[in-house]
Amino acid sequence: MEPVKVGLLGLGTVGGGTANVLARNAREIARRAGRGIVISHAAAHRYDADAIQGLDQITITQDAYEVVNDPEVAIVIELIGGYSPAKELVLKAIENGKHVVTANKALIALHGNEIFAAAQAKGVTVAFEAAVAGGIPIIKAMREGLAANRIEWVTGIINGTGNFILTEMRDKGRDFDDVLAEAQALGYAEADPTFDVEGIDAAHKLTILSSIAFGIPLQFDKTYTEGITRIEKQDVSYAGDLGYRIKHLGIARKNGKGIEMRVHPTLIPERRLIANVDGVMNAVLVKGDAVGPTLYYGAGAGAEPTASAVVADVVDVVRALTTDPENRVPHLAFQANELSDMPILDMEEVTTAYYVRMLVVDKLGVMAKIAGIFADHGISIEAIKQVEPAEGETQVQLIMLTHPVMERQMNQAIAAIESLDTVTDQVVRIRMEELAG
Ligand code: HSE
Repeated sequence: MEPVKVGLLGLGTVGGGTANVLARNAREIARRAGRGIVISHAAAHRYDADAIQGLDQITITQDAYEVVNDPEVAIVIELIGGYSPAKELVLKAIENGKHVVTANKALIALHGNEIFAAAQAKGVTVAFEAAVAGGIPIIKAMREGLAANRIEWVTGIINGTGNFILTEMRDKGRDFDDVLAEAQALGYAEADPTFDVEGIDAAHKLTILSSIAFGIPLQFDKTYTEGITRIEKQDVSYAGDLGYRIKHLGIARKNGKGIEMRVHPTLIPERRLIANVDGVMNAVLVKGDAVGPTLYYGAGAGAEPTASAVVADVVDVVRALTTDPENRVPHLAFQANELSDMPILDMEEVTTAYYVRMLVVDKLGVMAKIAGIFADHGISIEAIKQVEPAEGETQVQLIMLTHPVMERQMNQAIAAIESLDTVTDQVVRIRMEELAG
């Protein structure tokens, strides 16, 4: 049988990795797919010709539309990233009856509903395994491997750059800016590093995971997003003293009232496996009602790890080329006419435990006053740590861990504490999760 012809949009880090994996493992991949797979046409403005295998077999153009309009191409791999022109190109490929594989989490999180509807109408597949957690096959695991379960919650370290920064701050006491610069030099960070450190990249990925977990339309605009730029070395250290690690987590949880979707720095007990996922690695922990907690770990970025997911999607598409479109695995795990309109909860309605740190004047009654404010707002204190003041200092750092409470009550308590004359700076608050199975 003739090999399947693939068009590649982008020959950068992941594009080059994809070409290399397809060339190097061609025989093995063909044995799995049932047919050979070749990149016949690629679009790129710049590429490193010495680092990519098999370029002499590929027609290369600068005009991506030449690829999506090429009648010989059956599958288009979109690795340009960003919203535009990726969206227009993907929609054009679908209109032309081509299957699409993409690693573009921003595109899927924001425009996935429209793209999937177009794909369904045309009877083609849009596959996006590489969009979440790079090489970890988390979408396949949740959409297929866990199909028997009601998913209760999903949480993940889904941005390698942020995890690298927090790990270096903890292990080496390095400053945030210094580690970010290294992550950029190593090629982990997004083109715009605010996407990494402000949690936007993680929120794109969490939006996708939430839809697959709970069968809801993609709702990026309702994902609460808080970055790691305000995490200080002292908080990383105090959390460690109390037996916790700070991780930048994406959390999606279903409760009786709706669905929580949130990305924020989080204290987790250091004995949890996921608390020990360090450096640029990613991990996703999924709790299903039947299977219990399951953990998926691996490289969340990089040329060949991401290519591993891209090529696996291409293999899936090739295997399904002859399958009736109605019987393909649904894009968001649930049949398109079975998506739920369960509400996404406002952050004020979310219940978590908290780490709070405040700088207070070291005098009689201050601790009692603060404890009283917490009590007035129905907040129970789990642990207290007061850092001994340096010689001659009149202020002390006071750290408290609380039991779970609704965010609205915590906001009110923090406002009351910050209005005290004896509290001299903004209260630092980091949410905590037990993540117990
Ligand atoms: N900038 C992302 C990260 C790359 O650091 O995880 C993969 O999405």
